Amino acid sequence: MSGWNDPSAASVAPLADSQLQPTADVLARAFCGNPLNRAVNRSADPDRRFRSNRDNMRALLPIAHQHGQVLVATLDGEVAGGLVASPPGRFPLPPPPLRVRLGLLMRQGWSVARRWEVVFEVLDALHPPEPHWYLAVLGVDCSAQRRGIGAALLSHWLADVDRDPIPAYLETDSEANIRFYERAGFAPVGETSVLGVRAWLMKRPPADRRRNN
Ligand SMILES: CC(C)(COP(=O)(O)OP(=O)(O)OC[C@H]1O[C@@H](n2cnc3c(N)ncnc32)[C@H](O)[C@@H]1OP(=O)(O)O)[C@@H](O)C(=O)NCCC(=O)NCCS
Repeated sequence: MSGWNDPSAASVAPLADSQLQPTADVLARAFCGNPLNRAVNRSADPDRRFRSNRDNMRALLPIAHQHGQVLVATLDGEVAGGLVASPPGRFPLPPPPLRVRLGLLMRQGWSVARRWEVVFEVLDALHPPEPHWYLAVLGVDCSAQRRGIGAALLSHWLADVDRDPIPAYLETDSEANIRFYERAGFAPVGETSVLGVRAWLMKRPPADRRRNN
């Protein structure tokens, strides 16, 4: 495997209702080691961090499924990765119902919930003012990374994005991911720091402007 758009053995399709739980599990595991996730979920216990992430994903996925986009990659019939995005004009997605938010607060605790709020306050304020596609979450199960599954999810989503001359935008807290996204046409457009963690802002111009550069 040498490029971001190389074929992978994974199949990518929109989330099916039966995949909600396994997709939440996979995304919760994928992000456990990311710097921003560690800054929010400060527990030294990886199971606790996993459960906290899974609660978030269980709250987010039904909303994103209804109002945004959720793609799932399967490998040999098992969920191996997922992508959550908002089409132009759909960001921010509506919040989960009150009972779900209260449940999250009780399980995660006030401090974790408050730190997530800070993260979203900082990042949301930096979104481009013009209409854009937003890549909110892209994660591949830790045991399945570096096999082309992330690239397969991204390229499936970008096929939708490229139907309109509208930019795509994302943030990443991992410098190692910059090259991965650059291969798909994204370029860094800024940087920020949240809870002491560096985050890079990346934008992908519409196809016609990428060709002219
Ligand atoms: C970032 C992430 C989504 C990428 O998914 P992935 O399935 O590991 O990505 P791919 O395998 O498609 O590509 C990753 C790299 O592995 C390389 N690669 C792919 N298949 C490979 C293989 N069989 N052997 C070796 N390298 C391989 C790719 O060329 C790519 O290299 P690059 O970084 O130089 O572009 C995944 O690593 C992840 O979930 N990370 C944790 C969560 C996260 O950071 N998400 C992104 C938030 S913005």
